Amino acid sequence: MNHFLDINKTDPSDLRAILDSAAAMKSARVGLPKGTLDAGAPLKNHMVALIFEKPSTRTRVSFDLGVRQMGGQTIVLSGSEMQLGHGETIADTAQVLSRYVDLIMIRTFEEDVLLELADHATVPVINGLTNRSHPCQIMADIQTFEEHRGPIKGKKVVWCGDGNNVFASFAHAAGQFGFDLTFSGPKTLDPEAVFMDEARAKGVTINVERDPAKAVAGADLVVTDTWVSMHDSQTARERRHNQLRPYQVNGALMANAKPDALFMHCLPAHRNEEATDEVMDGPNSVIFDEAENRLHAQKGILRWCLGV
Ligand code: CP
Repeated sequence: MNHFLDINKTDPSDLRAILDSAAAMKSARVGLPKGTLDAGAPLKNHMVALIFEKPSTRTRVSFDLGVRQMGGQTIVLSGSEMQLGHGETIADTAQVLSRYVDLIMIRTFEEDVLLELADHATVPVINGLTNRSHPCQIMADIQTFEEHRGPIKGKKVVWCGDGNNVFASFAHAAGQFGFDLTFSGPKTLDPEAVFMDEARAKGVTINVERDPAKAVAGADLVVTDTWVSMHDSQTARERRHNQLRPYQVNGALMANAKPDALFMHCLPAHRNEEATDEVMDGPNSVIFDEAENRLHAQKGILRWCLGV
């Protein structure tokens, strides 16, 4: 059974096949109304549960739309309204849902919830974000980079800011797709060392550079994310802002990267905090392509999970 739990847990040849399938489905839809059924309706007769224990705009809409475009049906569930949020075990939830649906996508807090769900489900499970990783986002980001600049292998990607769950999936992707990755942020918000060590073991260069101007020198892609993630305590907000302000992605910082360096942000953004409007809306920004590609990349993931 093909679960899609993390990029480092999926074979590189499968990751490439997912992106090829996503690109083919995307190009086949050019000019069509969003509700048009994909040729062959590959998810016809399939039922997908989408569980959200945290807020979402992109993940919720893109998964729901993607399943429908492929001819399947969805049940969207809020964690707090399920018995899961009121004491039912994850194992029991997994086994019950597996009797009703063909695939489960979950956005949750602790990674252990995702892993336990996958352990006990008898249908594929997709990670729609945990506190520890966000693999669907980075699959969309790789698709986006390659649409604009060709193969990401050997390119330099620079992350400015918090070493959070989205960075973790970039580190996983660096090892699997073969690009170099530099983390630039305060030491107090460093990513877990395991993410970087594992990528290094696969032969890619993973650097830490505290000076953001030095970090982005020669970058093909500059990425940032919100300074306070959904799972971070709001009481830490001011401290995080003070620590992260030097890592704001603005025009002056981007001037140190390659002239054609792309800018990415997975959204939602706090504009003029982690990145300025000048960069977010500038000519090198591909933030809305990333958002669109959530739809296409996830359709590739769904098909791979279901083998259709
Ligand atoms: N980037 C992302 O996952 O967006 P949502 O939180 O809106 O799903």
